[in-house]
Parts: sequence; C-alpha cells; structure tokens
Amino acid sequence: MQTATQPELQWIPKAAAIAREAGARLREFFEQGVETEYKGDVDLVTVADRTAEKLIRERLAEVFPEHGVYGEEGTRERMEGEYRWYVDPLDGTTNFAHGFPQFCVSMGLEQRPLGLAPGEDGAIVAGVIYDPMRNELYTAERGRGAWLNAKPIHVSPIPVLAESLVSTGFPSRKRHDSPNVHFYHEFTLRSHGVRRAGSAALDLAFVAAGRLEAFWEFNLNPWDTAAGVLLVEEAGGRVGDFAGGPFQLNSREVLVSNGLIHGELVSLFKDMFAGKNLSPIPTPREFAEARAARAAG
Ligand code: IPD
Ligand code: CA
Ligand code: CA
Repeated sequence: MQTATQPELQWIPKAAAIAREAGARLREFFEQGVETEYKGDVDLVTVADRTAEKLIRERLAEVFPEHGVYGEEGTRERMEGEYRWYVDPLDGTTNFAHGFPQFCVSMGLEQRPLGLAPGEDGAIVAGVIYDPMRNELYTAERGRGAWLNAKPIHVSPIPVLAESLVSTGFPSRKRHDSPNVHFYHEFTLRSHGVRRAGSAALDLAFVAAGRLEAFWEFNLNPWDTAAGVLLVEEAGGRVGDFAGGPFQLNSREVLVSNGLIHGELVSLFKDMFAGKNLSPIPTPREFAEARAARAAG
C-alpha cells in the first residue's frame, strides 16, 4: 500500500510544535483541575485559557517575529503585518471546566496583502488544530492537503443528509437571540443525528477527517474557524455561509460539509429562513425505502 508523504511545509512545523506545547499545558491543567471564572453569564474562562494564549503569543513572536497575533483572550499584536495568526488557545472551555475531554488549541494563519482594508479577508494559508486528549494533530497548508498526525485526511463520501452525522454549537452570549435550536431540531429529524460536542474547531477538524459530514454555527469568531475551514477545504470539502456564498472570517455564519450534501444543506437553510417549502419529514419506513433505493443504485 502506498503512503502519502507530507510535502515540505512552510509554517506548519513550527506552528505545530507550538500547538503541541500549548496542548500539553492544557492537559496538565485539565488533570490537576482549575477554577472557573465568568466572562459573561455562562461564558467561562480559566487560567488555562490565559496561560496557553500567553505561551502561544510568546512562541509565535520567537519563530515568526513579523507575524501578527489575534487571540481570543485579548492578544492584538502586529495587526498591520502581512501575516496574522488567529489563535484560540482553548476551544471548548465549558467542556474543559466541567472535565469533559473535548477541547483543543486552534491556530489559523491569514495572509493579508498590503493595502487590504481592515474589514476585508486575506487568504487562510495554514491551519493547526491540536487535540491534547487524543494526541491528534490536524494540519493544513493551502494547496498541500490536510493531515491528521501526518497522514492525509479526506472528507466523507456520504452523499445524502439522511445518512449523515452533523454537528453544530450554540453561543454562550445572548443565547435567547439565537435561532439555532430550530435548525438543531430540523436537522436532527433529517439526519442520523446532530452532535453538540462543544468545540467548534474540533467539529471542523472532524468534518475534514470524515468523522462528520457537516457542521454549522451562528456567530463564531475568526479564532474559532480560521484553521478549521482551511482543513475542510484542503480535505476536499466545501466551506461557506448559509446561503452557499463564500466564507468570511467575520461573516458570523459558517456552514461546511463534505461537498456532496452541501446543496441539500443550503436549500434546507433557505427554506427554514423563509419559513416555507419544507418537505415532509420521512417516516422511518420511508427512510428505509430511500436507503434501499440508493443502495440498489
Ligand atoms: C466555543 C466553542 C463551542 C461553540 C461556541 C464557542 P470557546 O468556544 O467552540 O463549541 O459552540 O460558540 O464560543 O469559548 O470554548 O473558545
Ligand atoms: Ca472558541
Ligand atoms: Ca477559547
């Protein structure tokens, strides 16, 4: 059997070492237990979030002294530079604070051509997501594929939503303003299930690795999505907004999939936003018949 070898990568080796070091610190904090503080009503933060961000900020300044850093816990450094890292030092803080072992470090690198307006996106050129509890390192550089622990990954081949496992998340601020519970309900009835595992970056990495067929969420930030959307694209999937338009770092909507079910997802979003034209939810028997018909070709 042929095994693919990772191409020469420009930023990933150094960034991956930093993500691994930060992840190891998170794991130590997780094992010893940390106190929970509140940023908002149910928006949690811990010493682990801040320690990991400080570590990542310092290491990035050592290895990429020209690069900017934009971190969830407040880092804003060298914002005028051509390159900018979006850093979520601990994605999945609520899980972490409760001892639920689903969280990660996420670092995505944007290349911003000189003269780009502050509100405009450059291209995401590298992404690293590290899950310290599973020791899983997801990496991608634009045009060079996506990798899990140095093995190539690809999105799943499942062709229909009805046979898909998908995931989403809910905001910890202004929860009453989020319409997502309606989408959660609808997608639950039209798929194998909807997971809400509590780390958007890992949800994205799981789509890239073919463990989930799709992920969507309202109101995420660039530090949640930058690395993961590149992983999905490099693994052969599609990324965008809920209308099927291009993904934007600050668009506050992200919808990614294996590509094959993307059209179905976009039309379900469209119908739900319009409050109309939803096709009836198939009965279990109809599900079985449709599955048998697909299997028969
Ligand atoms: C959160 C997680 C969660 C998502 C929330 C995010 P944090 O990030 O990614 O899955 O549903 O919207 O804020 O606060 O743990 O870094
Ligand atoms: Ca996050
Ligand atoms: Ca975070």
